[in-house]
Parts: sequence; structure tokens; C-alpha cells
Amino acid sequence: MAPSSTHDGFCVLILVSTLVVTCAGSFYQDFDLTWGGNRAKIFNGGQLLSLSLDKDSGSGFQSNKDYLFGRIDMQLKLVAGNSAGTVTAYYVVYINLCQIQLYIHENVVFPFSAVQLSSQGPTHDEIDFEFLGNLSGDPYILHTNIFTQGKGNREQQFYLWFDPTRNFHTYSIIWKPQHVIFLVDNTPIRVFKNAESVGVPFPKNQPMRIYSSLWNADDWATRGGLVKTDWSKAPFTAYYRNFKATEFSSKSSISNSGAKWELNELDAYSRRRLRWVQKYFMIYNYCNDLKRFPQGLPAECRR
Ligand SMILES: *[C@@H]1O[C@H](CO)[C@@H](O)[C@H](O)[C@H]1NC(C)=O
Repeated sequence: MAPSSTHDGFCVLILVSTLVVTCAGSFYQDFDLTWGGNRAKIFNGGQLLSLSLDKDSGSGFQSNKDYLFGRIDMQLKLVAGNSAGTVTAYYVVYINLCQIQLYIHENVVFPFSAVQLSSQGPTHDEIDFEFLGNLSGDPYILHTNIFTQGKGNREQQFYLWFDPTRNFHTYSIIWKPQHVIFLVDNTPIRVFKNAESVGVPFPKNQPMRIYSSLWNADDWATRGGLVKTDWSKAPFTAYYRNFKATEFSSKSSISNSGAKWELNELDAYSRRRLRWVQKYFMIYNYCNDLKRFPQGLPAECRR
């Protein structure tokens, strides 16, 4: 089943040396609004999606397709302070963008061909891009994590170098058998390398689905739960647009040599940008948290 046969939207099938499918679709065709009732909305002919949070509920959506390796791009405009811009207005939200979860599928070679609603496996994997809200004028925290075989504890946190509530920005995940790369406006902020050679499991056998939601997490999100959500400013709304998924077939990407892929992936400029972000904007890195790992840092940190 080619993706173009199931959609009215814009889908191209490009055959190069590897099979790559790009779908710049509409939210109607690619996603299901899964919870929060009419707090989740699609409009502008499928080009824009919004999630809202009020006292009673948050909201969320998920992709109706699975992906096994690829690049996911989404433009997102985060919840802003109230429109009057008073600095007393605050909110605490937890937006989970591209929380990709793994489903147990066997023998999936080309996941566009099947959409299965398997239940979540006991050893689920996840790639997390999360945004912890704040008082107006105070910085969001961008929180990233990677779960493999049900185990996470690989957090890295960043401040952003712009106000994510003013404009749309692009948050991307490149997922290949060799690495997972997180990008913000095309600047790499984190690279998680495949460290199977030193015994660290890597998500590579099961397709994943994209989940996104907006909910209240004032028990922990902002300053560790000290700042509570101000419901007089509700509803809080985040906007999504320009979702794009570029899928690499697993076989072709696995057949490329790791070293070559990495070189292709990050050129000298991107590597400089990555170092710039990590030097000036990273506020937490589990790999530097000796207190947390008294028995020694995780194996992937020691390379
Ligand atoms: C919120 O702002 C405070 C003060 O600037 C900062 O310490 C904190 O990291 C910010 N973000 C969150 C999610 O608490």
C-alpha cells in the first residue's frame, strides 16, 4: 500500500538509491485527535492544529501511522503569557512533542504499509521532546529523553535561544539505526549515538508512533513544582503546523556504514552549532550527574 493511495494530500514517493517517502500532509490525514474533546482542533484546511488546556482537561493527538527510522519535523508555537502580557500571568504546562512510542510489531520492513494498533509493549521505547512552561517572561525548559527497552533516565535539558511563544519554530527528530538527533530550527542540540557495542540498547527494531499533548504538570514542571498553574489565564493553547515525516526504509539505512552516515549527517557547521548549544544553553546533562550515578556513569556516557 503506497501512502499516496490513501491520502488526498501532498505525498511524493522518491526513488533514489534508498527508498525515501516524504509526506507533507495535512493534520486531517496524518493525525487523530485522541483526547480532550474539542480542546484539540484542526483548522485552515488541515494546515494548523491547536491543543488547549483548561482546568478540566488537557488534550492530545497521535499519528495514525507508524514510523521506523526517519526524520520528523513539526513547527510549534508554545503557549504564550496572557495577551495583555502582564508579568504576573503564569502558567505551567507540559507539552510533549513527538513523544514517539514503540509498538511491538514483527517483521515490519516498511511500516507505511500497515497501521497496527498493537498495545504498548512492556519494553517500550520513546524519544521525548518536552517543553516545560513558565511564568511570562521566564524561560521554558526544553526537556529531552530517550527510553530504550522501557528504561529512560537519559535526560538533557536546555534553554532556548529565542522566545518559543512568539513564533513558530521547527523541532525535529532524526532517527536512524546509528543515532537519534534532536534539532531545533535545524540546529542539532543533542546526538544520542547507537552504543550497542558497549551494551546499551538502541531503538531500532520496532516502528514508532508520534504522540503530542498539552497538560497540566504543575506538581513538578516549573521550578520543580513550586510555581502553580494560574487557571484564571486558561485556556492555554499551543499551535502546530507544517508536520513533515521523511521515512527511510530500515533496510537501506541499516546497510549504510555508521561512520559515513554520521559524517553526512552533521557537517562542520552543524557540529559547531551543536557545541554552541551545549556550551551556552544546556542546563542539565545526565552524563555529568555523578551524584545520581554513584556506581559510575551510564555506559553511553563513558565514550
Ligand atoms: C522558569 O524560570 C526560572 C527563573 O528564571 C528558571 O529558574 C527556570 O529554569 C524556568 N523554567 C522552568 C520550567 O522552571
